[in-house]
Amino acid sequence: MWTRFNAIFSDQRDGIMPNLTHSDTRKNSFFNTTAPIRSFFAPGRINLIGEHLDYNGGYVFPAAISLGITGRLQQRDDALVRIRSEQAPGEVTADLEGNAASGNVPAWAQYPLGALRYVRKSGVALSRGANILYSSTLPQGSGLSSSAALEVLTAYMLTGASTWSEQDRLRIAVLMRDMENELIGVQCGIMDQFAVALGRKGHAILLNSDTLAYSYVPVDTGSSSFIIMNSNRPRALADSKYNERRAECGKALALIREHRPQYRHLAEAAINDIESVRDPVLAKRARHVITENRRVIESVEALKAGDLGRFGALLTDSHRSLREDFEVTGPELDALADAAVKAPGCAGARMTGAGFGGCAIALVENRHIAEFEAEVSGSYRNATDLTVDFYRSILEDGVREMMPSRQSHHNH
Ligand code: GLA
Repeated sequence: MWTRFNAIFSDQRDGIMPNLTHSDTRKNSFFNTTAPIRSFFAPGRINLIGEHLDYNGGYVFPAAISLGITGRLQQRDDALVRIRSEQAPGEVTADLEGNAASGNVPAWAQYPLGALRYVRKSGVALSRGANILYSSTLPQGSGLSSSAALEVLTAYMLTGASTWSEQDRLRIAVLMRDMENELIGVQCGIMDQFAVALGRKGHAILLNSDTLAYSYVPVDTGSSSFIIMNSNRPRALADSKYNERRAECGKALALIREHRPQYRHLAEAAINDIESVRDPVLAKRARHVITENRRVIESVEALKAGDLGRFGALLTDSHRSLREDFEVTGPELDALADAAVKAPGCAGARMTGAGFGGCAIALVENRHIAEFEAEVSGSYRNATDLTVDFYRSILEDGVREMMPSRQSHHNH
C-alpha cells in the first residue's frame, strides 16, 4: 500500500501547493523564501468511556476534538529534516532516518523523529529533507493525546499524501502505536493514535481493541455539551504507573487463565472469574476492566436511544471504578469529577485518558454551563489550590491536510 506514497516530496506535488507571500516568510525565518508550504492538522482526543481497556482487548469509545496540532511543511533540497515547535525553544536537525544531529533531543522532538524513523522503516523512502514547524492548541501533558497527535501528524505529512483512505489511517495508527511502545517505551494501546487518525466530525468511534473492528456512532447531545476540564495537575510518573497497570492486568489474566485457558484478553473474563484472582489488588484491576467493558456497550446503547441521563450516570460510574478499582485518578481528578457531578446541569463526569492528572469530561446542559463552570472552579480551587481550565470542544475529523482557501491563494 505504501508504494503509492512514493511520490513523497516529488515535484509533482508542487503545482497544488500554496505559495507563501514574501511577507509571510519573513515573519518566520525558519522557512526559506521560495519553496511552497503545506499545512496539516491533527486533532487531540477525548475518550468518552472505556478507559484502560485498549490493552485488555476491550471496547473504547474515543472521539477526535477541535483542539490539536498544526504542522507546516516545506521541502528542502538537501537531506536534512529541521523541526521546530512554536511552543518550545530551540530547533532539532536530523537526517532522513530520524537520527538527530546532536545527542540532545528535547522530549517533545522524540515523537516526530520516531515517526520519521518508523515511516521510513515501513518502506516509505523520503527523497529530500524538510522544514517542519509545529504549533499546538492542545494543553501539554493534559491527557488529550498531544503525543499521538504529533506522531500521526508527522507521519501523515511525511507520506506526502493529500488524502488517506481509512485503511491508510488504520495502518498509520498501528505504526505509531508500535513506535511509541518500542522507541518511547510507553506500553500504550491503540486508542489515541486511532482516534487522531480516524476521527469523524460529530461522531465517536466504538473500537474493539482486540479485532480493530470499529463503527462510527453519531454523538447527538441535544441541548447538552461535553465540557473538557483540565486539572492542571501535571501527569507526573504517568508513564511508569501506566506500564505498572498494564503489567498488573497481565498478571490478573494469567491467574484467570489457569481456569479459563480460552481467554486471550482480560476484557473477555466474566465477573465470577475474579474469584480465581486471590491477590486483592489484581482482583480490583480485573473488576475495573470487566465492568468498564460492559459500561461502554451500555453507554453506546444509551446514546443511540437518546438517554443522556443514563449515559451521564455511566460516566460517573466509570470514574468511580477508575478511582477505587483501577486507582489511576488521584486527588485532583477526583476533586474535579466530584465538583462537576454536584454542579448545576451536569449529567455525569469522569476522568479521560490515562489518568494520574490531566483532564476530565462532563456532560452539561447548555443553559447551565456558565453556572457549572463557576461552581466547579470554586470547589476545585478550594479542594486543591489549583485552577481548572475549561474547553468546549466539538467532535471533529481526524488528521488532514488544510487546503488553502481560494481567497488566500489569489493573494499570493
Ligand atoms: C493512554 C494510552 C491509551 C489508553 C489510555 C487509557 O491514553 O495512550 O492507549 O490506554 O491511556 O484508556
